[in-house]
Amino acid sequence: MSGGLDAPMSTPHVIDEDSFTLAANLPTGPVPVEPYRSPEFFELERERVFKRAWLYAGRIEMLPEATSYFVKNIEVVKASVLVTRGKDGQVRAFHNVCSHRGNLVVNTSCGKAERFVCRYHNWAYGCETGELLGIPDQKHFFEVDKRELGLTPIACEVWEGFIFINMQKSPEVSLLEFLGPFGRTYANVPFFNLDETIVIEADFKANWKLIADAFAEPYHVPSLHPATLAPGFAHPEQNRYARPLSARVHGIHRHFSAYGNPDYVPPPSSKVERLVYIQDTGGVLGGDASENAAALAAHPAINPTKNPNWSADVTWIFPNFNIDYSTGGFWTHEFWPLAYNRTHWTLRVFIPRTASVRHRLQLEHYACRWGEVVLEDVTNCERIQRGLESGAKDHMILQDAEMLIRHNMRVLDKWVKADTVAEALR
Ligand code: FES
Ligand SMILES: [Fe+2]
Repeated sequence: MSGGLDAPMSTPHVIDEDSFTLAANLPTGPVPVEPYRSPEFFELERERVFKRAWLYAGRIEMLPEATSYFVKNIEVVKASVLVTRGKDGQVRAFHNVCSHRGNLVVNTSCGKAERFVCRYHNWAYGCETGELLGIPDQKHFFEVDKRELGLTPIACEVWEGFIFINMQKSPEVSLLEFLGPFGRTYANVPFFNLDETIVIEADFKANWKLIADAFAEPYHVPSLHPATLAPGFAHPEQNRYARPLSARVHGIHRHFSAYGNPDYVPPPSSKVERLVYIQDTGGVLGGDASENAAALAAHPAINPTKNPNWSADVTWIFPNFNIDYSTGGFWTHEFWPLAYNRTHWTLRVFIPRTASVRHRLQLEHYACRWGEVVLEDVTNCERIQRGLESGAKDHMILQDAEMLIRHNMRVLDKWVKADTVAEALR
């Protein structure tokens, strides 16, 4: 990447043939920042992106049995979504809104129920198709047809155990069409360690894209995470700026593969890390040596260049969802806008059931490491929001490793302008 001592000072140092940005057919100029600070643009995102895109609602494990349900409140589309598994095993979604006078029917976040009873006047709905089962004192209503007064359905489809919903009454494209090449490339990735989750969530005074951007490039690793991540994800000689091993677009979605320092071992001063590291956690992100990890690493989509110095893959499903993979398992990020300058973020790290005290210690260490690292990431976002809102800068200058951010801004621009989803997907 270095231009050498005799390169003119003003010459860009990106080497064309290695450029992720050029390979993705993206322009290389400055990118406008107005979409990060404009309330008007946020309303466009609400109407044209979040009300038309397929949105991640939860994992299939959140509905372990027939009659399981969970509720997902999605502020940006002003909806309370009830996701259920019927006795027939089918996953469905409904507006969590009573047909009588509009009360929210279910007020618990998850559970099991054969009937959902609205507490206001006890109208009751079935868990199968949201059908209206009963109206107390029905004879004093006027011409009600119970068959037409069930819960209002929301389009819901499942891909690889990930449940997505779509707020369009009749979605213009299916989930598979929406996922496009991403759905095909990442089909059949073996997911594992699904027993439990470590969940970290918080609200930030920052645009949702700033939180998403925080996890979209490794260029910041040496500077923002000098003590926590840099030793394992950069190399003082071979990869000082943690350049990704690959970064590609998959239709409207995208990924990058992160480098892992093959020489990294915890220093003697990191006593707890050494204790857990010598166990089967092995690699830089709690990787293990199990068959699961080997199967994951062998999948053609994961670390697609099969570089031996691989640590993790970050995939960003448009608009606001990440599925990330390492040999230790996988984790997801959700970036939910609350306002143009406020975001609710949820990180879910999927972990196996604890097998021993030592294993528990490993997982606790893993969770603490996560907490430490992501705090470095997300607390920085509020500072960026303030910087951008000052109006001092109208553009950001992105380097090649920040290609995913550039691609997101381009796709977003297309979605807010396109009259149809088919057009937005082109
Ligand atoms: S609003 Fe639900 S029963 Fe009246
Ligand atoms: Fe980071």
